[in-house]
Amino acid sequence: MENLKRSVTCGELSASDAGKTVVLNGWVHRKRDHGGINFINVRDRYGITQVVVDEDAGAALKEAAGALRFECCVAVRGTVRGRPAEMVNPQMPTGEIEVAALEIAVLSGCEVLPFMVEERSDARDDLRLRYRYLDLRSFAMQRNIRIRSEAMFRAREYLRGEGFFEIETPTLIRSTPEGARDFLVPSRIHAGRFYALPQSPQLYKQLLMVSGFDKYFQIARCYRDEDARGDRQLEFTQIDMEMSFVSREDVFRVTEGMLGHIFRHAISSELPASFPRLSWEEAMDNYGSDKPDLRFDLRLRDFGPYVEAGAFGVFKDVLAGGGAVKVLVAPGCGGYSRKQIAGLEELAKSFKAQGLAWAKVGASGLEGGIAKFYEASAEKIIEGLGAREGDLLLFAGAAKGIARAALGAVRSRLGKDLGLARQGDFKFAWIVDFPLFEWNGEENKWDAAHHMFSMPREEYLATLEQNPGEVKGDMYDLVCNGYEIASGSIRIHDAEIQKRVFSIVGYDAGDAGERFGFLLEAFRYGPPPHGGIAPGFDRLVMLMCGETTIRDVIAFPKNTVGVSPMDEAPSAVEQRQLDELHLMVKNGGGGTALSTS
Ligand code: AMO
Repeated sequence: MENLKRSVTCGELSASDAGKTVVLNGWVHRKRDHGGINFINVRDRYGITQVVVDEDAGAALKEAAGALRFECCVAVRGTVRGRPAEMVNPQMPTGEIEVAALEIAVLSGCEVLPFMVEERSDARDDLRLRYRYLDLRSFAMQRNIRIRSEAMFRAREYLRGEGFFEIETPTLIRSTPEGARDFLVPSRIHAGRFYALPQSPQLYKQLLMVSGFDKYFQIARCYRDEDARGDRQLEFTQIDMEMSFVSREDVFRVTEGMLGHIFRHAISSELPASFPRLSWEEAMDNYGSDKPDLRFDLRLRDFGPYVEAGAFGVFKDVLAGGGAVKVLVAPGCGGYSRKQIAGLEELAKSFKAQGLAWAKVGASGLEGGIAKFYEASAEKIIEGLGAREGDLLLFAGAAKGIARAALGAVRSRLGKDLGLARQGDFKFAWIVDFPLFEWNGEENKWDAAHHMFSMPREEYLATLEQNPGEVKGDMYDLVCNGYEIASGSIRIHDAEIQKRVFSIVGYDAGDAGERFGFLLEAFRYGPPPHGGIAPGFDRLVMLMCGETTIRDVIAFPKNTVGVSPMDEAPSAVEQRQLDELHLMVKNGGGGTALSTS
């Protein structure tokens, strides 16, 4: 077989190679018989080369060509020749040439395919995952995995250049509360005890700061037992970073530099040298979201100033009750049908709004919906909101948070429906000064909005306990095109402040010690001021690839019910294994669906 060992890839031959004898190894991508001439497209990860078995080829060669099946693995020895002018394919990098076959060998056969590898849309998600190795042969997936690999390398390259150490931290750790549910791993040696898989390396990276490794990063696998959806997986990857003696400006600079480097090299896209900043308050007020899609500048406006002059009692009540009335001018949507508006209202209601009021901007003022309540002030409203004839006004009146979020969701939907967001645009922004605490209505207590180690902004330090809901933290998210790409904060390195934060979220010294004792203990030994961030690598690559789910940029992802249809994880295990782990499965387990369809 030595003479059938690959000498060139399927993506590199051009007219200047004419006359050479080469060996291609790859897969049969397409084949067609053109009046006795066989054309076979052989594919590998570098491209496609057209192989021709001429009409006057020997019978054995013709027979071999005829017997080839899609996606079988072949070796072809042949001579490179220029294509006749009318056959040149400028769309194909190898479109100038073809390889006239001298010998064809099947390296391994291929059974009838469950789907054609290029027919992505036709193959149902679970089927694609069931035969993921075939799905990964498609150009789109090969490209995505290539971009992912390049991005990972460039992240490492950049951070190394900035003096960062890459340090691994354990993936069998102590279970500590971090927001989502932990995956637990039972210990065989220690009956009844469990390791947890890390939700992130948060505590370890802070410990590394105590150890003096002032610039740390890790391409870290994280595990969270939460519902999987488009931009969430049970296991995912972060570019986890932490730095000592820094302010958030330093964290921003490194992150911006790294992303610029990644985008430049992985997808030839130039990002701005620095990203704009919005406070959390501004983001919520203007866009109704803490991860706004800034590719379009549709803003929520405050309708409060117009409420008094109108006769719509509902809005008056909302304001009297301390709520807010927000309005969105949907450009050119005046022609929306009742049904379309009802669709938007459904969406608003799923964000707890009571409803979505509306009015159209007609030739002579406001029309339809709640227009009748604002006849006298219509002109002022239209002018004040900068609305134009043919626009649709959409209103949400509710508690401030609900009005913002509901109309924010409508804003996102309109962005998609109206095609306001351009594919290929990347609008990054820092969202800063998040609330440090959020009210947990179910348990009637304050929770940490992110995690418990984020530093309050200095101006709130004196009065933390008085009004926790008002306290802003030195916390930041990086958002892009409507996704949260990264999250981080400057950390608390002062035991007193940490104690106060614990106490606000209801942890006394005992609780805190039990959960985070090792970190608190370490902080008794000269912890440096430090801060960090963790870009979600899968989401980043998803954006770079123009995909809408991170499944499409992960080689072997789980489906939306947390299952890998290919290897059927999670699976039942043998009784013997359970015994060794001192475990008993309640009611025999089982019964849940392993597929999404
Ligand atoms: P956080 O929990 O916000 O912060 O996660 C950081 C980033 O990781 C990505 N991400 C996910 N990606 C895919 N699937 C998931 N289930 C998932 N969950 C999160 C997001 C997110 O912005 N330790 C802190 C970071 C820090 O403070 O330094 C942390 O993990 O892009």
